[in-house]
Amino acid sequence: MIHPRHSFEEAGQGHVFRFFDTLPSDQQDSLTRQAAGIDLAELSRLIETEIQGSEHQAEDFSDLEPASYRPVPEHGGDKAAWIQAEEAGEAALRAGRVAAFTVAGGQGTRLGFDGPKGAYPTTPVRNAPLFQVFAEKIRAASERYGKAIPWYIMTSDINHAATTAFFEENGFFGLAPERVRFFSQGLMPAVDFDGKILMASPSQIALSPDGHGGSLRALVRSGAIAEMETQGIDVISYFQVDNPLVACIDPAFIGFHLLDESELSSKTVPKTSAGEKVGVFCVRGGKTQVVEYSDLPADLAEETDENGELRFRAGSIAIHLFDRDFVARVGGGKDEAFRLPFHLARKKVPTIDEAGNPVEPTEPNGIKFEMFVFDALPFAQNPLVIETKRADEFSPVKNAEGADSLATSQAGQRRQWARWCKAAEIPLETDDTGLPEVIFEVSPLFADTEERFIEAWKALEPKPEVEDGLVLGEARRAG
Ligand code: UD1
Repeated sequence: MIHPRHSFEEAGQGHVFRFFDTLPSDQQDSLTRQAAGIDLAELSRLIETEIQGSEHQAEDFSDLEPASYRPVPEHGGDKAAWIQAEEAGEAALRAGRVAAFTVAGGQGTRLGFDGPKGAYPTTPVRNAPLFQVFAEKIRAASERYGKAIPWYIMTSDINHAATTAFFEENGFFGLAPERVRFFSQGLMPAVDFDGKILMASPSQIALSPDGHGGSLRALVRSGAIAEMETQGIDVISYFQVDNPLVACIDPAFIGFHLLDESELSSKTVPKTSAGEKVGVFCVRGGKTQVVEYSDLPADLAEETDENGELRFRAGSIAIHLFDRDFVARVGGGKDEAFRLPFHLARKKVPTIDEAGNPVEPTEPNGIKFEMFVFDALPFAQNPLVIETKRADEFSPVKNAEGADSLATSQAGQRRQWARWCKAAEIPLETDDTGLPEVIFEVSPLFADTEERFIEAWKALEPKPEVEDGLVLGEARRAG
């Protein structure tokens, strides 16, 4: 085998091995492995087109239109169609056609939590971590439809070992361990502004995860797609690790996706304000796409329609359904026409100087490359965007404080349970935002929708007092 050193030299990246001969052999091996994992052709192409040829045209948004979406019945959607979709989705679940998929490879830098983000304690009474909330939702759906729903979790080198250990320590939260599959996403090297690969130390390349768009090729490379095929799974229910309100398995969503023969379906909620940090579903040249919040020009973000509503309001909450064969096509990398673009971010990348001494930059010194999963949308046949209710499905934990923090997410969870209690005619004091005075919690194993809450509450004997510290469903969780 030719040592990667030669190809790195040819590609003008020979400095990666500058200290190689002075390294102990285990570090030499590790550096060789890291180098062998880099697709140099891909990197050279990116450097040429995105960095060296960077007479970058400002993106032209003049032909951008808002994408249309299917509204919920409360906003004029066809109730009968939703019922029909729900039945179709339930049939697919009973037939075992659906897998859950969580992208959890991110660094979680904004939250400042030292550990995999899925291990972050999130619910108000049990402090259940995000992974437990999803596990209970998946378990509840598996029991309801009589089919164990497999759960694929994408990690990255940064958190793979910690994530698997966390599941083992917690008995996989009641799921059969063989139904939970972990795989690591790909890594990309950071480069300096001349396109030279940055080193994190004399023996380490500055590598970081290739973005959640990397999940499509990681699904293929890990063998997950092939495994799904043998198991007759053709619907992949995709969600991010940061949102405890997500309906991990949503029969109506699955039903619409299948009935419309969509290859990629997405959920949307109307943006709360022009500045809300969510991508927006748009159409350009007849293709649906998401324009990321940081890219949407302010004048378009602020534009209103004749009803005074934001024109570009269809916010992306990063909940999708993927058709398995579509993932095989986009993630397989065989067809260049289906290649996800890379987005460039200028970052402060800790590195080394010529002598190998560490350098902590105070200004951005490098470029990281990431793919975004929603960039697959323009490649999909019959892409479908459907509305969901924000209060029921989106309250992520992204920041240590302020918007999208633990505090806002816990309030979001508590308001949802308070609405369910009211629907079940349980007397409960709330403030004008719907936040209950008492702090209680409903496990997804007790109920994961309002309808099922009403039923479960009816059947519950004796009925407990709804008071501070109550956890509905804990008995079942322990069992
Ligand atoms: C993301 C979306 C935004 C959407 C919002 C909804 C992007 C670029 N933007 O914003 O359009 O409206 O969520 O909440 O995604 N991840 C990986 N591997 C990676 C990078 C990220 O698995 O290499 C995972 C993270 O673990 C997390 C998710 O992707 O679950 C989101 O990543 P993050 O960078 O936090 O995106 P946001 O800026 O919050």
